[in-house]
Amino acid sequence: MSKKGSSRRHLTSMPSWSLAMVKRSRAGSVDLMAYEDPRLVELYDIDNPDGPDHDFYRSLADEIGASTVVDLGCGTGMLTVTLAREGRTVVGVDPSAAMLAFARARVGGDRVEWLVGDSCAVPDRDFDYAVMTGNVAQHIADPDWLRTLHDLRHAMRSGATLAFETRNAAARAWEGWSSVDRNQRATAHGPLLEWMSAEETSPGTVRIQAHNLFPDSGETVVEEFDLRFRGRKAVEDDLRATGFETLAVYGDWARTPFEDEHRVMVFVARAR
Ligand SMILES: C[S@@+](CC[C@H](N)C(=O)[O-])C[C@H]1O[C@@H](n2cnc3c(N)ncnc32)[C@H](O)[C@@H]1O
Repeated sequence: MSKKGSSRRHLTSMPSWSLAMVKRSRAGSVDLMAYEDPRLVELYDIDNPDGPDHDFYRSLADEIGASTVVDLGCGTGMLTVTLAREGRTVVGVDPSAAMLAFARARVGGDRVEWLVGDSCAVPDRDFDYAVMTGNVAQHIADPDWLRTLHDLRHAMRSGATLAFETRNAAARAWEGWSSVDRNQRATAHGPLLEWMSAEETSPGTVRIQAHNLFPDSGETVVEEFDLRFRGRKAVEDDLRATGFETLAVYGDWARTPFEDEHRVMVFVARAR
């Protein structure tokens, strides 16, 4: 599933600190944290095109008159480069070297400063605006999540804006993600067969296994990672504990006030 809800590529995220995390488990099969394989990174933007989520983050940047922006978990940088316009400094940070390599090379990539790493790599620049888009928050486990918010707060000026979304745990979206059937598609590297499983391994933590078989070479890439599903109150508590005040929680990209049945929670917070 994508961040728009139909494909699974957007789920995958990877703290990809090094190839040491790659386990070559058996002949023809490679187990990876997500976003390490450049062939799969190439598919990310196809599965996750620009849309109303990006419009929301861009509009907010304009409304608050942001001149310094950090995009944490920027991935392939599709949104990041569009935030970078005349008079605005934009920094994109992501732990995946493969995703950042793609971002750097994209049109407009030269307008952004790209940094490999997690929130520890966010420079202290008194940022006006920080974003974590595409459910980045769900890829960050506790207690790293609190540290991430703390690091962002430290890098932002008082009164700055933080915006991010995370799927509503109560909607249990993962229950529709497992696919027995294999999806086949053409890629620049030949045909690709994809299927995935999603299993709640403890309350609020969902283990994803995304299988990618390239029949031409017989190679299977298995990306395995956990997603955290948090509730509204937990996120608001975390924001308060790390120096933010929640200004709004929306249930969609049209800024409808969040209600329990919404699938996504879009947080807008102010650095105190
Ligand atoms: C689903 S992608 C979202 C990419 C992009 N923000 C977008 O909207 O398309 C999740 C991203 O989070 C990144 N990520 C994973 N763990 C992270 C962490 N601890 N801190 C920051 N980013 C992280 C991944 O490398 C990946 O690029």
